[in-house]
Amino acid sequence: MRGHLTGRTSSSSTSSTSTSMAKTCRKSGMEVRLPQMNAQELINTARTLVAGDKGLLAMDESTPTCNKRFARLGIPQTVEARRAYRELIVTTLGLGECISGAILYDETIRQQKKDGTPFVKAIIDAGIIPGIKVDTGAKDMAGHPGEKISEGLDGLRDRLVEYSQMGARFAKWRAVITITDGIPSRGCIEANAQALARYAALCQEAGLVSVVEPEVLMDGEHTLERCFEVTEEVLRTVFNHLYTQRVMLEGMILKPNMVLPGLTCPKQEAVDEVADATVRCLKRAVPAAVPGIAFLSGGQSGELASARLNAMNVRFKSRLPWALAFSFARAIQQPALEIWQGNEAHVLLAQQALYHRAMCNKAARRGEYNAEMEKRWV
Ligand code: 13P
Repeated sequence: MRGHLTGRTSSSSTSSTSTSMAKTCRKSGMEVRLPQMNAQELINTARTLVAGDKGLLAMDESTPTCNKRFARLGIPQTVEARRAYRELIVTTLGLGECISGAILYDETIRQQKKDGTPFVKAIIDAGIIPGIKVDTGAKDMAGHPGEKISEGLDGLRDRLVEYSQMGARFAKWRAVITITDGIPSRGCIEANAQALARYAALCQEAGLVSVVEPEVLMDGEHTLERCFEVTEEVLRTVFNHLYTQRVMLEGMILKPNMVLPGLTCPKQEAVDEVADATVRCLKRAVPAAVPGIAFLSGGQSGELASARLNAMNVRFKSRLPWALAFSFARAIQQPALEIWQGNEAHVLLAQQALYHRAMCNKAARRGEYNAEMEKRWV
């Protein structure tokens, strides 16, 4: 690990030590100094993000995705509505008890509360580490009908400097892999894995922890076994590329899907079977140097996502090299969004719903979540 850092440092134009690196890059014709990259700091941040029983809150829906979710509930699709919703989230009392890091979107990281307080400051004041989504979306992949490649590498070095100056301490990149007949192709898996690795290397150079998110989608009729097979191949490929691109595994978080049957597969395995398959798959493909695995929810209900994470921690926690945490968007936010519906008068109740889901997932990290917790809320 040190060798990689030292190797990169020695080729940089500035002075360095074995654990720190300073570089410059050009932005708008100006020399901008990249933040000092300190390996120990990266490791500490990565560990903090998955420490104890907390997890990440993904609130980084792109504008089109956020608008789509608003439209379904009849909420106006305006900048102000998106800002108000994000203010609801970041001002939820006690959120920092369950959430270690919040992933923002480019629009959101630049916004403020109504009283003018920047969201980044509100998040830090709540004891939460701010992060930022940096891919620019999954686009149709040339020559690969039905498959996507995530874009956003061009100009990423400069964007990371800006986000870091705004207070972000970690970044996220999502790749999406679809399962259907003859898909995913090797070409799609390789291209996405390489992009994830190049993004992760740039993050570490800029002093940001990388949250590496290769998402095998739940959509489709495929079986749990097929999801296992694809997830294993994807993760093995991603870690090969992370190694090739000299990414320090101790300074990153993996954000994978759980191993699940497709949404329309007639056979839906029980919670414990999903937990077993997911952990078995991760053990095959994820090196022990990675400090934590923070699952995406991917369209599971909030209750199922909590129950499955809980089962993994109940059955395996003491025997795993990495922490098993969460980095949910829908599985934390959905009930709150449905209660809020764009109505100021519903903010408090929506915040209680958000806090409740965050608390359920905190309990799931300890292996102490149960269905009773849901009744207490209803
Ligand atoms: P979901 O938990 O809703 O899948 O979202 C996680 C995420 O960050 C998607 O990129």
